[in-house]
Amino acid sequence: MADLSVVVDGLKLPNPFVIGSGPPGTNANVIGKAFDENWGAVICKTVSLDASKVVNVAPRYARMRAQGTKEVIGWQNIELISDRSFEVWEDEFKKIKDKYPDRILIASIMEEYNKDAWIEIVERCQACGVDAFELNFSCPHGMPERKMGAAMGQDPELLEEVCGWVNQAATIPVWAKMTPNITHIEDPARASLKAGCQGIAAINTILSVMGVNLETLRPEPTVEGYSVPGGYSCKAVRPIALRMVMELATMMYGNETHEGEYKDRSLSAIGGVETGEDAAQFILLGASTVQVCTGVMIHGYKMAGRMCEELSAFMDKHNFKTIEDFRGHSLQYFTTHADLVQRQKNAKAEKKAAKEGMVTKDTAWEGDKFVEQSNKLVSNDD
Ligand SMILES: Cc1cc2nc3c(=O)[nH]c(=O)nc-3n(C[C@H](O)[C@H](O)[C@H](O)COP(=O)(O)O)c2cc1C
Repeated sequence: MADLSVVVDGLKLPNPFVIGSGPPGTNANVIGKAFDENWGAVICKTVSLDASKVVNVAPRYARMRAQGTKEVIGWQNIELISDRSFEVWEDEFKKIKDKYPDRILIASIMEEYNKDAWIEIVERCQACGVDAFELNFSCPHGMPERKMGAAMGQDPELLEEVCGWVNQAATIPVWAKMTPNITHIEDPARASLKAGCQGIAAINTILSVMGVNLETLRPEPTVEGYSVPGGYSCKAVRPIALRMVMELATMMYGNETHEGEYKDRSLSAIGGVETGEDAAQFILLGASTVQVCTGVMIHGYKMAGRMCEELSAFMDKHNFKTIEDFRGHSLQYFTTHADLVQRQKNAKAEKKAAKEGMVTKDTAWEGDKFVEQSNKLVSNDD
């Protein structure tokens, strides 16, 4: 049986499946449930020092179903970060680490553009025994007026400065979580890595408007008749997440034509994962760990067991013994469009030559047809 364990930035995980920041990691009770169901690690719901500014609304979710079925394929939320006080979180971080000392608990943190606040939150979380940080530079809604979340993550210069503050104070690994609401996701990732972050996590939700109700003419989700654009997640976003993870991995680790810029840093993939096969695709594109958020809201915590079995079956089929055996394997198959055209041209020419019995490679020579094959290669046979 395949070995699913992962060592990333010195953190030891029993498997690569990580609870992504959001409702599935929103208090000690559900985080404990995730560890009991053998999730590889948990990233808590994003916390900040002053939760009094966080006021959530209801309803705050809207779903997209596949036509004619109950299957949920897209999910929009207008939820903010945790509305629970930082002191309560400190207490819960300690209790979780006391109960699960060997399991990996990652604190997702977010602050305004204020050096003292970032340093304080880092130091206080570290004092509670958390194993790593994920910096939320990516929540697309609710916080731009305070220059938090994606508003910060879309500005590489600002990001480099803030990551510098965090890395000065942090004594444990730091991952920077990227927003997909940007043209070149490599730019903010590069800025975070340059400032010393150990890893990149991508993607957060995609800014979206789920729809307009054709009876009431009001956008969804509707709160007292009004709405705001929200964050889109679930399996519909997976192709976009795969593309962005591929771009990040190519920048960090390199491929046939591009020298990697940060080969010793880690990549945690997020976006629409619900099966072991989904996870395998992200790992093939360079991710060491794979996060799940909306999937848990739809299928529950037990899905970790199923996903481990599915990933293990994929690995057995290809005879991969460890996650490292296939991590990043498929990056080599991305190229330019011009190269695709050239490859197709070459393949056609080879096929035509083979059809005409023309030898184009030395391996094609055959003893019984040797003279005939030689004759076919002569250009001027008078
Ligand atoms: C309801 C909800 C709340 C979320 N809250 C947070 C959050 O507090 N911090 C954060 O970094 N990401 C948050 N996310 C984003 C997820 O962690 C994840 O990046 C995104 O949903 C894509 O992954 P998925 O398709 O597995 O959900 C939230 C997502 C949802 C659906």
